[in-house]
Amino acid sequence: MNNNILEVRDLKVSFRTYAGEVQAVRGVSFDLKKGEVLAIVGESGCGKSVTAQTIMRLIPSPPSVIKNGSIKFDGKTEITRISNKAMEKIRGSEMGMIFQDPMTSLNPTMTVGKQITEGIIKHQKVSREEANKRALEILKLVGMSNPEGRMQQYPHEFSGGMRQRVMIAIALACNPKLLIADEPTTALDVTIQAQIIELMKKLSEKTEASIIVITHDLGVVAEMAQRVIVMYAGKVVEQGTVDEIFYESKHPYTWGLLRSVPRLDQKKDSELVPIPGTPPDLFAPPKGCAFAARCPYAMGVCGQIDPEHTKLSDTHSAACWLLHEGAPKVERPVEAGGAAR
Ligand SMILES: Nc1ncnc2c1ncn2[C@@H]1O[C@H](COP(=O)(O)OP(=O)(O)OP(=O)(O)O)[C@@H](O)[C@H]1O
Ligand code: SF4
Ligand SMILES: [Mg+2]
Repeated sequence: MNNNILEVRDLKVSFRTYAGEVQAVRGVSFDLKKGEVLAIVGESGCGKSVTAQTIMRLIPSPPSVIKNGSIKFDGKTEITRISNKAMEKIRGSEMGMIFQDPMTSLNPTMTVGKQITEGIIKHQKVSREEANKRALEILKLVGMSNPEGRMQQYPHEFSGGMRQRVMIAIALACNPKLLIADEPTTALDVTIQAQIIELMKKLSEKTEASIIVITHDLGVVAEMAQRVIVMYAGKVVEQGTVDEIFYESKHPYTWGLLRSVPRLDQKKDSELVPIPGTPPDLFAPPKGCAFAARCPYAMGVCGQIDPEHTKLSDTHSAACWLLHEGAPKVERPVEAGGAAR
């Protein structure tokens, strides 16, 4: 039996603009198991949101074009090929999405109760009474006090954290098999962030939904995810379990990322070191390894030939020439999580 809810293979997505073609996603492959929480991390502009929105078919085409690859959902549906109508049916029933800014995705002219029940009625063919009952249950589940009263209110009457809870409620209302959360806590202040992470963690345990969480925050990764994908310049450069990425990572970009963002499991006074330089221009991605211009370990071959992924365990792989058997041995910097084990 196929245990994967999602299988993404060699996905390439570009934007056609007046200035030329932006190669936003340049050959991304990964699997997501049923019930698993997967984090996608990487610097701004590396293609995390475009990957997620392509899976949900939420980016407008044009300007975006799926140039290559396949996205298989639940073992049967080829997302890149189904009709818009079939996709609309899947969105909101089998897939849900939570965005960074709930205000832009909530309807300001409709009560919160109506927004939750509309989805339920549309996708589940139940009576309004039944939908109301389910909406109340789900608002309780996301920690909303006085759910009856809240159902009658409009989004602007809610705080940022409460709005995010409403978004999560809408996404969960139809028992989706896949939930994608794109920076779900970035717009919130720190205490509310912790509450929303706690809520999502609880929900991931309670519901059977598989979750993709896109985040800049390695604290969110440590709290929620089982597995991590590290993206750079439109490609996956390393993937593994949370422990493999935090303590046994092999890609210099992953090391840089671990040193440059705060982590829950590190002392508060550990120094953060930004990665020098900037990511490459995706109008004209460089030949070879895209990280070469910023990598302290770059060798001659790096600027010429893009390294393939090397399998390090059943769950761990990285794309770096340092993993070639003939390459010089490099120890992972201590600040990136200790010496290599
Ligand atoms: N509508 C668009 N038109 C042209 N280029 C776009 C468009 N949307 C995204 N891009 C480009 O695609 C690339 C990937 O963008 P994406 O939004 O996926 O990045 P991201 O990893 O989510 O970054 P962030 O962490 O800032 O959200 C970027 O180079 C971006 O400029
Ligand atoms: S392939 Fe070369 S440039 Fe790229 S990360 Fe590895 S060592 Fe650095
Ligand atoms: Mg994004």
